[in-house]
Amino acid sequence: MVEMKEVYLDNGATTMVDPLVVKAMQPLFSEIYGNASSLHHQGEAAKHKLNEAREAIAKAINAKFDELIFTSGGTESDNLAILGVASAHDKSLKDHIITSKIEHPAVLNTCKYLESLGYSVTYLDVDTEGFIDLDQLENSITDRTLLVSIIHGNNEIGTIQDVEAIGKICKKHGVLFHMDAVQSFTKTSIDVKKIDVDLISMSSHKIHGPKGVGALFVRKGTKIASVFKGGGHEFKLRPGTENVPGIVGFAKAVSLASSSHIKQMSKLRDKLIRSVLDEIPNTKLNGPKGDRRLCNNVNISFASLEGEALGAYLDIEGICTSTGSACSSQTLEPSHVLLSIGVSHEIANGTLRMTLSRFTKEEDIDYTIDALKRYVEKLRKMSPINTIIKKL
Ligand SMILES: Cc1ncc(COP(=O)(O)O)c(C=O)c1O
Repeated sequence: MVEMKEVYLDNGATTMVDPLVVKAMQPLFSEIYGNASSLHHQGEAAKHKLNEAREAIAKAINAKFDELIFTSGGTESDNLAILGVASAHDKSLKDHIITSKIEHPAVLNTCKYLESLGYSVTYLDVDTEGFIDLDQLENSITDRTLLVSIIHGNNEIGTIQDVEAIGKICKKHGVLFHMDAVQSFTKTSIDVKKIDVDLISMSSHKIHGPKGVGALFVRKGTKIASVFKGGGHEFKLRPGTENVPGIVGFAKAVSLASSSHIKQMSKLRDKLIRSVLDEIPNTKLNGPKGDRRLCNNVNISFASLEGEALGAYLDIEGICTSTGSACSSQTLEPSHVLLSIGVSHEIANGTLRMTLSRFTKEEDIDYTIDALKRYVEKLRKMSPINTIIKKL
């Protein structure tokens, strides 16, 4: 039997765990398995591994050891940042939050929850490439504003916001700034000494680490309370026995990321974008080009077809892609991100996201371009709306 080729272009949803990460985690299951809070030698050994990992990840963003809180992933980090800051402040004085229309559901739904508790939330508009308007941000801040929460690298269309400028505005007005860096961490540099940011969400499984581990950077002095009730773990901010194997794997994944991978992914990303736009008619890139786009993100709308059908055909060829974010593709609703940048419902439904990793090879991209050309043509021929191929 001929083995089917596997081309994984859904790294925005999750990534393959790097074999070196698996190797680094292995001893933490049955050799060093103590509870990091225990005082005996097993506990001490686990604590040592936990401390090493915390030091390494904090260093990757130029933060201090005790500014990094381990969580169960990006969703929990986003929840802890927003709910933790809200509950630590007096709601009768500070009850306004600013976010954008293109956030991940982990932020959007947390903000909606706060609205149900009586907070007011401003959802900033974005332009056709997904950038927020800095003037609109500044004009939205009032003396009741507590927090600004903005996604750093967008998970669907790859837009990288100008977080230096956002941070400056927040600092000028004495407002806290949280950025969701789940997609951007290790894919663009983040230095907390250069960005006026108070809270940063990160997740391990997007960067070739294990699932179920994440971190929240909390700048020293930030007023924040824990959301879960329990013991005093993680500087009293996140109770629960630490997932030491996962955390060690997360730190190993961070250590394996490098700027040469960013260059390599950007090159293949641009080849894929260029080839599709040049060789397949009536296609349109969503999100910006160049350095202001995540190095691994391609998001293209194909007129007169259904993205779900295209994805299913590509899957037959062994190519994994997605029609939106993994979280929203179950609902079959057009993506809120695409609608926010002005894409019509119909065109949003003909959209495919392809997200690369450092394991993506040039031959994978060539193989995908070839399959795309064939299946886009086939689907357009089959489509009842093909008689009026929409020009993009
Ligand atoms: C931008 C963004 N934020 C948050 C999350 C949630 O992260 P996790 O899957 O680790 O809970 C994701 C995952 O898709 C994401 O892309």
